[in-house]
Amino acid sequence: MSSQSAAIVVRRFGARDTLATWNVFYAAVRETAVADYSPEQVVAWAPDSINLTEWRRRRLGSHTFVAVENEVVVGFVDVTDEGLLDMLFVHPDWGCRGAARLLVQRVIAQAEDLGLSRVHTHASRTARPVFERLGFVVDRVNEQNWIRGQNLPNYDMHLDLI
Ligand SMILES: CC(C)(COP(=O)(O)OP(=O)(O)OC[C@H]1O[C@@H](n2cnc3c(N)ncnc32)[C@H](O)[C@@H]1OP(=O)(O)O)[C@@H](O)C(=O)NCCC(=O)NCCS
Repeated sequence: MSSQSAAIVVRRFGARDTLATWNVFYAAVRETAVADYSPEQVVAWAPDSINLTEWRRRRLGSHTFVAVENEVVVGFVDVTDEGLLDMLFVHPDWGCRGAARLLVQRVIAQAEDLGLSRVHTHASRTARPVFERLGFVVDRVNEQNWIRGQNLPNYDMHLDLI
């Protein structure tokens, strides 16, 4: 973790953030989510190799935002035109410092700009209490959520904007 307490700020994702966001995703899953899922599950979720061109295409295909501190990408989030918040990841070295709260606030602003009345997500066990803290409610448990041969149960959650 940085010893300086520079502010974490949120800006739009750009192609230059491709590798940094992958690294955040990998560390968040392998080091943070492993508290709630098995080693086999987190390897399936964040495999050792990834097609970065496809990763960048997916990030650019949604409204994606990055949290940065001193120009270092410490987290990211996205939301589709339909209001699906698909990705919310914060590097464990910058955890519990409000990055996720800032990122979700930015998604809410984007969703309001899009005229949406609701944001929804498929929250991991790790993220569920954080989303609840940010006002989301659970709609249902997904007992079956298969990724690369591993079942990673999660939760459908939503936040009403109006
Ligand atoms: C979930 C995750 C994004 C949270 O990021 P973070 O930057 O550490 O979260 P924040 O510091 O912004 O915390 C947001 C709020 O949740 C609260 N919170 C954090 N962890 C919590 C927990 N385990 N239980 C309850 N509340 C919690 C914080 O206190 C904060 O509330 P406050 O602002 O009122 O104090 C991060 O831990 C992560 O990347 N986890 C692994 C990957 C993952 O599961 N991603 C989600 C996929 S759906």
